[in-house]
Amino acid sequence: MKGLFVVFEGIDGSGKGTILRHAYDFLVAKGIKKENLILTAEPTPGFYGKKVRELLSTDVDPKVNAMQFLDLYVADRKEHIEKVLKPAIDSGKIILCDRYKYSTFTYQQIQGIPIEKISVLHKSMVVPNLVFILDVPADVALKRISSDSKRNTKEVFEKKDFLENVREGFLKSKKIFPNENIVIVDSSKSIEKVSAEINGVLWKILKK
Ligand code: TYD
Repeated sequence: MKGLFVVFEGIDGSGKGTILRHAYDFLVAKGIKKENLILTAEPTPGFYGKKVRELLSTDVDPKVNAMQFLDLYVADRKEHIEKVLKPAIDSGKIILCDRYKYSTFTYQQIQGIPIEKISVLHKSMVVPNLVFILDVPADVALKRISSDSKRNTKEVFEKKDFLENVREGFLKSKKIFPNENIVIVDSSKSIEKVSAEINGVLWKILKK
């Protein structure tokens, strides 16, 4: 089995965390050893990731502090690549990563940062082999967020009109990255159906 860097993207409440864990369980059930699977996420629990989480929970208006958000997400990503992603890729592991650069190109562009500025900062960053974008209307996502008992407060980006823009932003990813392997999945269906679709795509690529 070869290594693979897979990214899951989507608006808050798109179900990506659950779907990612289902993908992990699916691969384990298919006989892939746990030591060859890396589950990871951005923002990371590292220095910059912690700072970004602080800002997410205290900030109120998504249009302010845009540069600060950009700098923190990019610094966190660089650290993630260095410490987690590159070593895993080099040793042929399968990486399932919750969010990556597509989130910055989407959220921080909506915060008002020009795409050229974001592009420059991502120039030499590793490109995933496969990206799933879980597409869901903001209404459905917000219902999922408010019925999740583990989340008691809404973060700065979890507001309806902001999320609707984020959804549209993510749908542009294929145009922004025409040479990348990006699959858009309708995530308004049941989590089981979405997982089955995603696991099918994953397995087809891994078996090749
Ligand atoms: P995430 O951990 O996926 O959200 P949660 O655990 O609260 O469901 O991401 C936190 C927030 O950070 C989310 O609103 C999306 C945002 N984000 C960006 O704006 N830019 C980025 O580059 C990344 C990775 C996340």
